Amino acid sequence: MDERVSSLRQQFKLELQSVQNSKDVEQLKVRYLGKKGPIQDLMSALRSCTDDERPHLGKKINDLKQELSLLCEEAIDGFLKAELSAQLAHEKIDFTLPGRTTHLGRMHPLSLILTEIIEIFASMGFSVQYGPDIDSDYYNYEGLNFPPDHPAREMQDTFYITPTMLLRSHTSNTQLRVMEKHKPPIRIIAPGTTYRNEDITPRSHVFFHQVEGLYIDRQATFTDLFSTIDEFLTKLYKRPIETRFRPSYFPFTEPSVEIDIRCTACEGQGCRLCKHSGWLEVVGAGMVHPNVLRNGGIDPEEYNGFAWGFGIERLAMLRYNIPDIRLFAENDFRFLAQF
Ligand code: DAH
Repeated sequence: MDERVSSLRQQFKLELQSVQNSKDVEQLKVRYLGKKGPIQDLMSALRSCTDDERPHLGKKINDLKQELSLLCEEAIDGFLKAELSAQLAHEKIDFTLPGRTTHLGRMHPLSLILTEIIEIFASMGFSVQYGPDIDSDYYNYEGLNFPPDHPAREMQDTFYITPTMLLRSHTSNTQLRVMEKHKPPIRIIAPGTTYRNEDITPRSHVFFHQVEGLYIDRQATFTDLFSTIDEFLTKLYKRPIETRFRPSYFPFTEPSVEIDIRCTACEGQGCRLCKHSGWLEVVGAGMVHPNVLRNGGIDPEEYNGFAWGFGIERLAMLRYNIPDIRLFAENDFRFLAQF
């Protein structure tokens, strides 16, 4: 019996040496100390010993049992520590790394300036209307007094979708829709996207944005148009802006004007931006043509009005010193983050 105990101890120690991890030790422990293990066998064998031998042998077996279970605990402890530090090394978190910054969204510069434009005109009694981007030739051209083969159509290179449907080339397509729906007095602005088949350059793009204005009442005058535009520009640039009105031509207005402002970059001294003229063209405008009023169901004998259209990109470029119109559509974060 003595021999069985010491050979079991040796055998266990040998096996313990070849164990690889804490799970293996657990298994070894169960195998030796479990109910069907060799220690239990020894215990059962005690029954066939003499009464003299039994206490001595029983103690030996118990000592062995305790010794093995202590060795197992120690081995398990050692493995668990090693396993934990291996895991920690593998999952290492570097607390000194800078955190991930989240970027706050911002308004696009065009939205920023459009919000201001709408606020200014709202303060002057204008409400906002919207027209469709895809429209008929009638609302974009013919109803606005552009006869089918009129050369003025060539002022705007149009994207036609079908022979009669197109991408609006200006926000003036909103004018007749508003007149059809509302009785004068009318005082609206109509912002929106416009499309032209032009070369993309620092100064022109195939799509851009305009703000149309339409004012119709019994006694609207040319002077009202001038003062409305002057007031608007002064409020937008937050200082008096010198304007210049030049005669021009649009089929839907008579008379027509183009409105220039003193160059905001050189204060009129002459620079590249204003092509050394000291002036920048910003608005097209005029008194609404009687034919257009008639097409809109308004009696030109009773009412008259004025209208204008300007490009939002142009005003934003002047306001924020943006040198290239293409920046607005490129979604370059370095550009957008500046607003
Ligand atoms: N639609 C014109 C353009 O895009 C601008 C314009 C001129 C609008 C005169 C008007 C106007 O309402 O009366 O070039």
